[in-house]
Amino acid sequence: MKIPIDRQSSNPIYLQIRDYFSRLIQSEKLAAGQRLPSIRALSESLQVNKLTVIEAYRVLEVEGLIHARQGSGYFVSSIANTKFTLHSNFAPTQEVTIAQGDGSFLEQFIASLHAQHQGNIIDFSSGFPSSFRIEELQRVAKRSLSRAADLLFRYNFPQGQLLLRQQIAQLLLQQGLEVSPEELIVTHGSEQALSLALRYYLQPEDWMIVETPTYHGVLGILKNLGAKVIGIPMTATGMNLELLEQYLRSHRPKLIYTISTLHNPTGITTSQTHRQQLLALAEQYECLILEDNAYEGLNFEPVPAPIKALDRHDLVTYISTFSKTLMPGLRVGYMVVTGKHYQPLVEQKLLNDLHVSTVSQAIASEFLASGLYRRHLGRLRTTHLQSRNAMLQALEQHFPKAIAWTVPQGGLFLWTHLPDRIPIQTICREALSQNILVANGAAFFLSKGYPAMRLNYSHTLEAIEQGISILGKLLKKHSASNVKTIKIASKIKADTTNTEVDKPKFQSYY
Ligand SMILES: Cc1ncc(COP(=O)(O)O)c(C=O)c1O
Repeated sequence: MKIPIDRQSSNPIYLQIRDYFSRLIQSEKLAAGQRLPSIRALSESLQVNKLTVIEAYRVLEVEGLIHARQGSGYFVSSIANTKFTLHSNFAPTQEVTIAQGDGSFLEQFIASLHAQHQGNIIDFSSGFPSSFRIEELQRVAKRSLSRAADLLFRYNFPQGQLLLRQQIAQLLLQQGLEVSPEELIVTHGSEQALSLALRYYLQPEDWMIVETPTYHGVLGILKNLGAKVIGIPMTATGMNLELLEQYLRSHRPKLIYTISTLHNPTGITTSQTHRQQLLALAEQYECLILEDNAYEGLNFEPVPAPIKALDRHDLVTYISTFSKTLMPGLRVGYMVVTGKHYQPLVEQKLLNDLHVSTVSQAIASEFLASGLYRRHLGRLRTTHLQSRNAMLQALEQHFPKAIAWTVPQGGLFLWTHLPDRIPIQTICREALSQNILVANGAAFFLSKGYPAMRLNYSHTLEAIEQGISILGKLLKKHSASNVKTIKIASKIKADTTNTEVDKPKFQSYY
C-alpha cells in the first residue's frame, strides 16, 4: 500500500497514517468489514517502525473507525461509515456570577444512586463510568491481596503506598507531567483531594474563582466552607480569560479551580495556549490554581499536557482519580503538590483519615502493574466514542433545532444549552416518569445560569436512542407550549392593564 508520508512534516508519521485511513474510511473508499494491511506489511512498505503503525491503528481504534479481531488483524468498523455532523454551536452568554458557595450536590448524587439501583432507568444524569468486567476485577483483587499481604495488616503512610505513587508518577509521565512519588498524595477519591486542598488553601476572607458551569461536587464543598466565590463563564474553548483577568485584578482571589481537560459538565478541553495564558495570569496576580483532571485518560484525541506541567513556581495543585476509569467504589484518587505545601497537605490527610485503604491501593496498583489498566482504558475509549457518536446522532435527529450542545473529545458527558424560558424542571420530572433521569444543568451553576442539561453518554446504543428520542419529544412539546404561553402572556399585556398577567399561572411555566 502506498501512503504518502512526509518525513519533514511536523505532523507525526503515525498521525499521517491515521489521517490517510480516516479519509478513506469516511469517504467510504474503505468499506465496513474490509481488512487493513497487517502491522508488519505496512511498516515494511512504508519503511517505518512497527510501533508507529501500532500507534496509528490504536488511534483509529479509539476513534471507533476500526477494530481488532483476535489473530486476524484490523477491520473497518461498521459504525465508522455512519454519517453525522459534529454539530456544536455552544456559545452561551458571558455573565459573571458572585455568590457564597452554593449547590445541590447531595440531592443529585442521591438521585443518581437511586436510579442506578432501580435498574430500569436510563440514567443520563450521573458522572459514573460504565461498569467493569467482574471476572477481571476478581482476578486482579485476588492477585493484589496476595502480593500486598504484608502491608494489609498494618497502618500505612498518609501519602499512600510508595509502589502506587511510583506507578502514578509513571502514568502522569504519559500525560506529559513529570513528578516524583514524593510529590504525590493518594486520597480517598479526588473529592477528598478537593476538600483537603480547598480547606487548606482558603481562609475565611479569601475569594476564589470557579468556571461556570462547574463540577457541582466542588460547589458543595464551597457551600460547606461558606467560601466567597466568583464564577467566570465557560466559552466554547474554556474559561473566559478576559473576564478572569478583570476579576483577578479587582478581587485578588487566592485560588482558581479549573477542569482543563474534559471539563465537567461541558466536556470542553482547553488548548495549550489557553493553559499557558491561564497560568501566566495566575503568576501575574499571584493566584494559586487547583487543576482537576478527573477524566484523565478518557480522551479520544491527544490532549495537551496539564497546566501543572508548565508550572515553575509551585502555583498549581493537580488532582485526579481512578473513579472514572476503574471504579468509583475503589475510592482511590491523588494529588500532585510541589514545594512548601506538600508536607502540610500530607498532615491534613493524616488528620483526616490516616490513609487510603491499603486494599484499594493494592488493587489499583495491580491494575497498573499488570498492564490491564492500559488495556481497559483502550476499551473504554472505544466504547465511549461509539456512545458519544450515537448520542450526537440522536441529538441531531430528535432535539429541537434551537438547542446547542458541545462535542467532547472524551470523558463521559456532553452539555446541552436549552433556549431561555424552557421549563427544565418540568421536563426533568416528566422524563423521570418515563424512566429517563437527566441532570438539570442548574446544579452546575454557582447561582443563576441558563437552562441546560448534562447528558452522560456511557450507555448502550439502544438506550441512547430510546432515551434521547423521549427527551426530544418532551423538549419539542414544551418548546411549543412555551411559545404559546409567551404569545398569550404578551397578548394579555398588550390588550389591557389586566393584572391577571402577573399571576403565577404564567410564571409557573418558567
Ligand atoms: C470533575 C470531578 N472532580 C472530582 C470528582 C470526584 O470523583 P471521585 O471522588 O470519585 O474521585 C468528580 C466526580 O464526578 C468530578 O466529575
